[in-house]
Amino acid sequence: MIRFILNNQLINTDKPAGSSLLDFIRYETDLPGTKVGCREGDCGACTVLAGQIEANEVIYKSIVSCLTPLGNVHGKHVVTIEGINMKQLSPVQHAMVDNAATQCGFCTPGFVMSLTGHVLSKEIPGKEEAIASISGNICRCTGYKSIERAAESISNLYKNKDIEKPVEWLVNNKFLPEYFLTIPARLAEIEKPVTPIEKNKQIMGGGTDLMVQKADEIFESGLNLFLDRKDLKTIKTENNTCTIGSAVTVNEIMHSPVILEIIPEIKDYFKLISSEPIRNMGTVAGNIMNASPIADLSIFFLALNTHVNLKLDNNKRTVPLKNFFLAYKKQDIASGEYIESISFPVPGKGFHFNFEKVSKRTYLDIASVNTAFFIRHTGDVIEECRISAGGVSPVPLYLRLTSEYLSEKNITNGVIIKANSIMQEEISPISDIRGSTEYKRLLLRQLLFAHFIKLFPEKISLKELNI
Ligand SMILES: Cc1cc2nc3c(=O)[nH]c(=O)nc-3n(C[C@H](O)[C@H](O)[C@H](O)COP(=O)(O)OP(=O)(O)OC[C@H]3O[C@@H](n4cnc5c(N)ncnc54)[C@H](O)[C@@H]3O)c2cc1C
Ligand code: FES
Ligand code: FES
Repeated sequence: MIRFILNNQLINTDKPAGSSLLDFIRYETDLPGTKVGCREGDCGACTVLAGQIEANEVIYKSIVSCLTPLGNVHGKHVVTIEGINMKQLSPVQHAMVDNAATQCGFCTPGFVMSLTGHVLSKEIPGKEEAIASISGNICRCTGYKSIERAAESISNLYKNKDIEKPVEWLVNNKFLPEYFLTIPARLAEIEKPVTPIEKNKQIMGGGTDLMVQKADEIFESGLNLFLDRKDLKTIKTENNTCTIGSAVTVNEIMHSPVILEIIPEIKDYFKLISSEPIRNMGTVAGNIMNASPIADLSIFFLALNTHVNLKLDNNKRTVPLKNFFLAYKKQDIASGEYIESISFPVPGKGFHFNFEKVSKRTYLDIASVNTAFFIRHTGDVIEECRISAGGVSPVPLYLRLTSEYLSEKNITNGVIIKANSIMQEEISPISDIRGSTEYKRLLLRQLLFAHFIKLFPEKISLKELNI
């Protein structure tokens, strides 16, 4: 039995855990405000909020309901556009009207829910963050500028928000209906039993790959729901090793104080990955198991010398991520085995890290080519170097030979040029919808140079690199 609160109503349902939240909202209840667009997480028309109790308060996040398996909202508060309606328009709805940010209106509930999720955050962000919160929403009518103006105007309305108690503040300031104040006590009453992991059942993380690729297959199959398993949710550093539980989401990594301390620029890198709602859903293990040659997290963690920690019953083993990808979509994982966590050595002081991604659109697009770069040096001498690249081979690729070549060399233009020729021998890009072989080769060359130009501008001559 799946139990959750939908707006102000407790739901008990026997529907399959793998059925979509969107279908439940639209076809099992009388709530047509949430729209069906692409059903692939791309348009945001189906955006809703999911709130769950974390440390005694309810934290809300935007999610796309088309890719959310019903089982993943057990014990949560799901809010659709109808759930924020009051007698008067909320300031978010008002901003959309005042800025002429809606025309046909099809996309509007999704935008309003993303922006409402944004105002619910435990921060006082600025207009850039307000605009970023709608990165997962597409509008075919307005041309976006009016919607951006609406987002911008909203960012001026919550400057006095009580970030300790955002829900109370938002209810008092008429952003949310009063029933939101009753939700924590009502959610606390819903039991969340820890279910054993069953070897023969499909593992489901956030569903952002599975629900796109195998929605029909998994509809009624039994599932191991991993997304909310507390045992797979930790991010910690112990004995100079950072461990990230397999069910940690992209946004949880991006905002983790532990990770921010190691890689302070992580937000700049991760904002290039998918969109706010997809980052709220997609997990690190889902990204690695998807094994797409351009999977951003795989590329990112390859350069950090990451290991994959696998478990089957009580047996555990660890595989370096660079050895985990055996061939296209084939990994070193046995039947019944699952990823418990990933871990990487915390780099001591004196290292630099950079991540580059080129895609056709800046946001909400997968990479044509992506690459991550780790370097430790003393003066001009490189002590340690690791470079990974996506979109240039059948698997997310650790560039072994290029990394080995660069280690113990001086940072000079000549060394970088030679590194590029070694790298070109290591890669085998194919022409596809994201670009021709030649384009991807050129792109990766430019990105290798970009790593050095960004990190060591004073040591690089653009003329010598011939760019
Ligand atoms: C609109 C959209 C945009 C996207 N943009 C990007 C992007 O920019 N960059 C990018 O890299 N990806 C992107 N993705 C892909 C996807 O969001 C990520 O790969 C995400 O990290 C997948 O995680 P998940 O938890 O949702 O995976 P799921 O769909 O839940 O699972 C994926 C696979 O992993 C397996 N799995 C999950 N957890 C485990 C585990 N612990 N052990 C063993 N197997 C496991 C599942 O069985 C399944 O086979 C996008 C997807 C969508 C829909
Ligand atoms: S219907 Fe397009 S994102 Fe869900
Ligand atoms: S107003 Fe028509 S799709 Fe946005």
